[in-house]
Amino acid sequence: MDQSRPPLLELRRICFTYPGAVRPVLDAMDFCFQSGDRMGLYGPNGSGKTTLLHVIMGLLRPASGEVYFDNAPCRVEKDFAQVRRSIGLLLQNADDQLFNPTVLDDVAFGPLNLGLSPDEARARAVETMDYLGLSGFEDRLTHRLSGGEKKLVSLAGVLAMRPKALLLDEPTNGLDPETRDRIIAILNNLETSLIVISHDWDFLDQTTSTFLTIQNGRMVREDGHAFHTHVHSHRFGAQPHRHRP
Ligand SMILES: Nc1ncnc2c1ncn2[C@@H]1O[C@H](COP(=O)(O)OP(=O)(O)OP(=O)(O)O)[C@@H](O)[C@H]1O
Ligand SMILES: [Mg+2]
Repeated sequence: MDQSRPPLLELRRICFTYPGAVRPVLDAMDFCFQSGDRMGLYGPNGSGKTTLLHVIMGLLRPASGEVYFDNAPCRVEKDFAQVRRSIGLLLQNADDQLFNPTVLDDVAFGPLNLGLSPDEARARAVETMDYLGLSGFEDRLTHRLSGGEKKLVSLAGVLAMRPKALLLDEPTNGLDPETRDRIIAILNNLETSLIVISHDWDFLDQTTSTFLTIQNGRMVREDGHAFHTHVHSHRFGAQPHRHRP
């Protein structure tokens, strides 16, 4: 741990098991996320990546262990409400994130909740949408958007809160290559600390600097992994894709 940077979030001996499940998903997990960290989290389906982010945000409560935010333990709903005001979570499934009828209302919802006036929240939403290339989507109905559009609108809603840190659960899932590249550029323009979950190693390599995976319910650093882009030719070779080792 770099002592010069304050820990933003810390997990101490977190155990979490879903009701009715035999095995814990998080098993005495320790984890420290410091201000300035840009972490890529990858790993097999079902290894507990999404569960981890939900525990951090207080959406799931562990059976034991503690979440610390800004060096203070989070024990009751009020403590986690503070986490949710400061840290933006992009959910894996955009349909779970969007709930206002129109796009503008959805993106303005977070800023409104932070106490901005309706006019300020609207201005913040318009500015963020513009930044994400979503101008013109203001009056669209959220439930009629395409999958990729929903993902972008969800991201706009998270960024509009100007969070201190971003937790992004598969932000490029379902996005076309140009939109994926735009997300890379946007993330690289932000100085925000972040944890990004993705199965797209090339994306992680371009947006984060340390790599982690969850094994048997514990966090494992994978900094020894070398990610690299191949240059070769085949059909659709110009599109982002993965190769088996
Ligand atoms: N609500 C739930 N009730 C019971 N079990 C659940 C629930 N949500 C997830 N699980 C189980 O917990 C484990 C971890 O799930 P989680 O969604 O955290 O994995 P993940 O690493 O995010 O996977 P993916 O890469 O597929 O998104 C899986 O075995 C999953 O089946
Ligand atoms: Mg997941």
